[in-house]
Amino acid sequence: MLNKMIVLTMPVIPRAIVRLVSKRYIAGDSLPDAIRTVKQLNTQGMVATLDVLGESAAKAEESAAAVEEYFRVLDAIDKERLDCNVSVKPTQLGMLIDKKLCYENIEKIVQKANLYKNFVRIDMEDSSVTSDTIDLFLQLKKEYDQVGIVIQAYLRRSIDDVNRLARLKTNFRLCKGIYIEPREIAYKHPDIIVKNFAFLVEKTLHAGCYIGIATHDEKVVWESLRLIDRLGCKRDAFEFQMLLGVDEQLRKILVDAGYKLRVYVPYGRQWYAYSMRRLKENPKIAFYIIKAFFGIK
Ligand code: FDA
Repeated sequence: MLNKMIVLTMPVIPRAIVRLVSKRYIAGDSLPDAIRTVKQLNTQGMVATLDVLGESAAKAEESAAAVEEYFRVLDAIDKERLDCNVSVKPTQLGMLIDKKLCYENIEKIVQKANLYKNFVRIDMEDSSVTSDTIDLFLQLKKEYDQVGIVIQAYLRRSIDDVNRLARLKTNFRLCKGIYIEPREIAYKHPDIIVKNFAFLVEKTLHAGCYIGIATHDEKVVWESLRLIDRLGCKRDAFEFQMLLGVDEQLRKILVDAGYKLRVYVPYGRQWYAYSMRRLKENPKIAFYIIKAFFGIK
């Protein structure tokens, strides 16, 4: 109820306050801001993935501009010798305009990343594009190795997707899933989502896939560590991943324990649309943000 109220009142909150609240989750407006953040993270023993903010491109020119920005990102990562890869969103790169255009755009980014021996992660958006995103990934995977995908533990279909993709030794990021989905499509019970997350961790590690365990939920972290121990996995078989600005204490605990930890660093001028969309998509996050704003622990 409180979460819903927060979301309903979001549109009347002044832009400046949204900006202030979302500041800790976004590296800044420009590439130099993002590079500065990644440098700091690298110095503190963490790796990163850079995300150029933007989604749902409606015009081919918008998606072309995103490709150009990703080229600049990859050049800068190489020039500054950063330990950082990139994450891309299919709808930012034309998925809703034309699937072929989207494939070509992402392929250009993957080819550029390949030149630098870097890696491209394809983020997973809402369930209307899950199948198309997986198809696009499978098509890319035929030609390129340095590309990975995201699987959401809340989706009922994910176990089938993992079974299919694990056979190809896919590089996975596993996360709970952020979009609001109907019950027919996604599990709603938090305990089931955690259990399904652990199930997917087990399946993927057992199949010998490299995985990014993307969570701030210590239950999921613990379940993953339990499975890693039981399966006797080496430390280079997985990494933890967390969003910029979220639970830095847990982040430090994992880094100090010697685990590889990648921070997802979004940046760009589309911070307002991104923040508002995220808040509307997941009222729970709105609650965290309001809590953070008022300094409530
Ligand atoms: P949960 O939501 O239960 O949060 C656990 C704890 O973390 C909370 O109790 C709270 O303390 C803290 N927390 C979580 N979010 C917070 C926030 N915004 N601010 C402050 N505290 C917060 N989703 C998706 O659908 N597609 C994708 O491609 C990705 N990609 C992705 C990359 C990375 C690196 C991460 C970490 C996450 C994603 N996600 C995602 C988002 C993911 O699906 C999920 O919505 C969030 O990670 C929150 O789920 P948790 O597992 O952290 O658990």
